[in-house]
Amino acid sequence: MSDPIALQAAANFAAKYGYEASGVWSAPGRVNLIGEHTDYNEGFVLPFAINRRTYAAVSLRGDSQVRVSSTFSSEVVEVELSAINAQSVSGWAAYPLGVVWAVHEKTGSWGSGLDIFIDSDVPVGAGLSSSAAIECAVAVAVNELWNTNLGRRDLARIGQRAENAIVGAPTGIMDQSASMLGELDHAVFLDCRDLTAKSVPLGFAEAGLEILIIDTQVEHRHSEGGYASRRASCELGAATMGVKALRDLTIADLDRAHELLDDVTFRRVRHIVTENQRVLDTVAKLEAEGPRAIGDLLYGSHASMRDDFEISIDELDTAVETALRHGAVGARMTGGGFGGAAIALTPVEIISEVTLAVRAEFEVLGYGEPNIFAVSAAPGAVRVI
Ligand code: GLA
Repeated sequence: MSDPIALQAAANFAAKYGYEASGVWSAPGRVNLIGEHTDYNEGFVLPFAINRRTYAAVSLRGDSQVRVSSTFSSEVVEVELSAINAQSVSGWAAYPLGVVWAVHEKTGSWGSGLDIFIDSDVPVGAGLSSSAAIECAVAVAVNELWNTNLGRRDLARIGQRAENAIVGAPTGIMDQSASMLGELDHAVFLDCRDLTAKSVPLGFAEAGLEILIIDTQVEHRHSEGGYASRRASCELGAATMGVKALRDLTIADLDRAHELLDDVTFRRVRHIVTENQRVLDTVAKLEAEGPRAIGDLLYGSHASMRDDFEISIDELDTAVETALRHGAVGARMTGGGFGGAAIALTPVEIISEVTLAVRAEFEVLGYGEPNIFAVSAAPGAVRVI
């Protein structure tokens, strides 16, 4: 077994609970190539699972208690299965416990209690879905140990349900879908209305490109106000325009939207409508011309999030502009916004130049030190041991 973090998770489980885990399951974080805030508008997204993963070492217990512990904190959280709810759990433990609860909600029954230990190399708060990675690793483990036979899309929905109902973050389905459906060197082109998905080859290596993550280290939380208020604007826009979701509008509807909506709501709607189109265009360009052709679409997405959706911050704008100035093919902030990371699609030979330039610019501007590293597209959730 060559996966060191899986072995470490198993060893930590044994040290914590005094017996061997029955297995270790893992799930990746994700980066979103394009399609931001479109998921809860029933639109299109194009994320990929990354080679940073969360590991859950898990065993069934003989009673109905659940214990969770992790490398994130020294505490062991213990709760009776039937007592899991939004009030009884909080902090990082709400993610794994929320999943256990959501499997019960979906299937109508409880399996036996569980001991869970979580280890991860997905950076937290970087916009790389460390939360979905926890949810999906625990979801595949519980699905197997409780014999619930749920499919990957159901497990993605279970992760989202945990996050919405127990953690209290009104997030969409993109992150869990990427973590469940990801494939090596492919992006997941997902229609968030019905979760139909297609794997799209990224072709980065063949084109001599890599995706650089520029984590600003400015932490964001989607259970705080900004994300929810963007979501509320989108719902208002859809209701005023008389559609079920903003997915049902196209660019041809924007003139009418401009007449009917107040300025802020109009700009929120314009972001979603144009972003859906950019996802479709990106998939078409990747398939026809390869990844060097998608730079303008990535930057168009960034500008739209900065100006219309207003979820970027100075650090993210600086990361994007500096990477582009130093030769990145395209760059944009990624994830929910208000902090987190930008991505820069960068020719391999200038990775270190771009890295040094962004670091230097952050220092000059007095920003905190960014964490910059390359990622590749990796497979989705799986049992490892
Ligand atoms: C967060 C949410 C996702 C999605 C993105 C924005 O990552 O968890 O559901 O809404 O923000 O695209």
